[in-house]
Amino acid sequence: MTPTPHTGDTLTHRLSGRVALITGGARGQGAAHAYRLASEGAVVFLADVLDEDGARTAEELRSKGFDATYLHLDVSSPDDWQAAHRLVDDKHDRLDILVNNAGIVDVTNLEDLALDTWNRVLSVNLTGAFLGLKTMIPLLRKGTGSAVVNTSSIFGPSGAIGYAAYAASKAGMLGLTRTAALELAPDGIRVNALVPGGVSTPINAQEAQGGVVPETPLGRRADVTELAAAVAYLVSDDASFVTGTELVVDGGFRTR
Ligand SMILES: NC(=O)c1ccc[n+]([C@@H]2O[C@H](COP(=O)([O-])OP(=O)(O)OC[C@H]3O[C@@H](n4cnc5c(N)ncnc54)[C@H](O)[C@@H]3O)[C@@H](O)[C@H]2O)c1
Repeated sequence: MTPTPHTGDTLTHRLSGRVALITGGARGQGAAHAYRLASEGAVVFLADVLDEDGARTAEELRSKGFDATYLHLDVSSPDDWQAAHRLVDDKHDRLDILVNNAGIVDVTNLEDLALDTWNRVLSVNLTGAFLGLKTMIPLLRKGTGSAVVNTSSIFGPSGAIGYAAYAASKAGMLGLTRTAALELAPDGIRVNALVPGGVSTPINAQEAQGGVVPETPLGRRADVTELAAAVAYLVSDDASFVTGTELVVDGGFRTR
């Protein structure tokens, strides 16, 4: 049974005053992360290419009394990242939390996979996180308890037929995470990877037969709130000695 999503009423304010930027924040897991982090006291920036959805999600958060701003940010664009840096810098002069969550999927067997498709998936899923980290390091250095979460996938460590580009990008996220954790530890910036199993979001709406559900011991997809709880932990001071690691939230998929 899926637990009841948090309303925010019963949460402690572990992230009071922290400034957070969540990519892919317009919908799905990113919107849930924004909601959860705002519920714990963070000021949130939701970045996405789906401007209508993003503006609506930010408006919903503001209607609950949270401080939420939507910005257009194609994570594969260095110029868009520079604009995001300027916006956050002008408003807050620092960034405490970066969640590199934006992602796209393509399902094509390797032999038929076009180079353009490969490049596009890598540029959003992996280069997007690299650009986000690289651009925001100076602001993260000025943050309090600064923490980064990079969203990988169970297909990163495992692989899956038809998912060559996606799995390569998500495996790359793990290498990027470990290296960033090593390089940024002296600055007190923690960097961890979130490794979700199947989650009910639009990205997998087309998947046949429930995707990974038959191979998931808990026998269902996760609700987005279950991933958001993991992200909130990773970026909070409760995880102050946790860096360079992977938090697997997959209903037991990897134990099979
Ligand atoms: N849903 C799952 O089963 C699952 C499992 C493992 C990992 N993931 C990963 O979780 C993350 C969130 O996905 P989701 O499940 O919420 O799906 P989703 O499709 O609802 O959300 C992805 C978001 O990323 C945004 N996005 C796409 N390209 C972008 C770009 N160039 N710049 C900025 N934003 C962009 C989309 O507009 C969308 O809002 C992704 O990285 C995905 O690969 C999902």
